[in-house]
Amino acid sequence: MSIERSEIMGTSTVFDCTILELPKISMDSGSITSINNKIDIPFNVERVYYLYDVPAGVERGGHAHRNLYQLIIPIAGSFDIVLSDSKHRRTFSINRPNYGLLIIPGIWRELNNFSSGSICIVLASAAYDENDYIRSYEEFLNIKSKI
Ligand code: TYD
Repeated sequence: MSIERSEIMGTSTVFDCTILELPKISMDSGSITSINNKIDIPFNVERVYYLYDVPAGVERGGHAHRNLYQLIIPIAGSFDIVLSDSKHRRTFSINRPNYGLLIIPGIWRELNNFSSGSICIVLASAAYDENDYIRSYEEFLNIKSKI
C-alpha cells in the first residue's frame, strides 16, 4: 500500500482516517510489533516522536497539518483522539500497541483522556516543520470551506 504525497488538505475527511492493524508476533515470553517502512505503513517514515509524562486531564494536539501524514500508536496505556474535517467529527479511543490511527493532511486533531503512564508514539512522513501546522481553528475552517 502507498499514499502519494498530494495537496489533499482541502478535501480530506475524517472518514479517510482509519485504524491500521500492525503485525504482532506473540510468544510465551511476550509480544513484538515491528513496523517496516512502506510495507506496514502507507507512507515513508521520516520522523518518530513520542509523548510521555502527560499529566492527567491535559489535552494535546489542537492543530491540523498541511502535508503531514501520521500514524499514532498507543505504545502504552490509552488515550482518545478527536478528529474534525470541519463538517464531521470522529473520536477514536485507542489502547492496543498493535493498532494505530492513520491521520492524513487537513484534519484537525485533539488528544485527551490520557491514562496514567501512557505513551503515544507518532510516526510521521516529514521532519518537524512549524510551517506545516495550522494552529488556528478559524484558519482551518477557512481553508476547508474554500474547496
Ligand atoms: P506540538 O506538535 O504542538 O505538540 P502536540 O500536538 O503533541 O500537543 O508540539 C509541541 C512543541 O514541541 C512545539 O513547540 C513544537 C515542538 N516540536 C518539535 O520541536 N519537534 C517535533 O517533532 C514536534 C512534534 C514538536
